[in-house]
Amino acid sequence: MEIAIIGAGNVGRALATSAIRAGHSVTVSSSNGDTAAKLAEETGARAAKSNRAAAEGADLVVLAVPYTTIVDVLDDVGPALAGKIVVDATNPLKPDYSGLATEGTSGAEEIQARIPTARVVKAFNTAFAARQTDPRIAGMQVDGYVAADDEEAKAIVLELVKGMGFHPIDAGDLAMARALEALAWLNISLQMRHGWSWQSGWKLVGPEGDAS
Ligand SMILES: NC(=O)c1ccc[n+]([C@@H]2O[C@H](COP(=O)([O-])OP(=O)(O)OC[C@H]3O[C@@H](n4cnc5c(N)ncnc54)[C@H](OP(=O)(O)O)[C@@H]3O)[C@@H](O)[C@H]2O)c1
Repeated sequence: MEIAIIGAGNVGRALATSAIRAGHSVTVSSSNGDTAAKLAEETGARAAKSNRAAAEGADLVVLAVPYTTIVDVLDDVGPALAGKIVVDATNPLKPDYSGLATEGTSGAEEIQARIPTARVVKAFNTAFAARQTDPRIAGMQVDGYVAADDEEAKAIVLELVKGMGFHPIDAGDLAMARALEALAWLNISLQMRHGWSWQSGWKLVGPEGDAS
């Protein structure tokens, strides 16, 4: 699959690495282009000259930018996203990391409202970059929760998540992004509270067969 990743920071690098490992072709873009070019050189991705150029050539576009920049990014790229699968890997954190900036909704739903003709899917946001690079830890696969209203788009992203090494879990419709963003926030707050190393990931355990 041709994947565009908008954002070439921790998440852009991690997802480019695991998507390329899974056999996909990846193009990245960033604010000024320099970090995208460096990431491309180091991972085997391609760097695009602009976010829009990256999105135009892709089957699936991943948003991997700070949530505070989403409005600008979507205003810029929006027309190129019509009909495309847009994977929202962001977490709508308050700038001071004191919690989520959303109330009664999710970042993913806000994104879908801004780009109504795109097929928005929430994924990857509950895993830290270390686990996005390598979803296996202590002999287990970290869960890759996927939420979307478009069932076909969700199925494609579940396959992508699986190919990248996660244990894929269909989390429901896009409104479940509220729970996934809260889950991400819980893990973030645990790292800060306990001085942990930003490596832990979510794994649902239960009777064999329940989440297999
Ligand atoms: N870090 C994690 O473990 C993690 C895990 C799950 C989800 N998330 C979420 O994923 C998102 C990205 O996090 P991150 O840690 O990768 O952040 P980061 O390391 O700060 O990287 C952000 C990237 O976004 C780029 N960017 C900013 N504005 C842009 C614009 N208008 N157009 C294109 N690119 C733009 C930056 O470009 P420059 O390089 O040019 O500055 C940079 O490459 C956030 O929403 C975060 O909450 C993070």
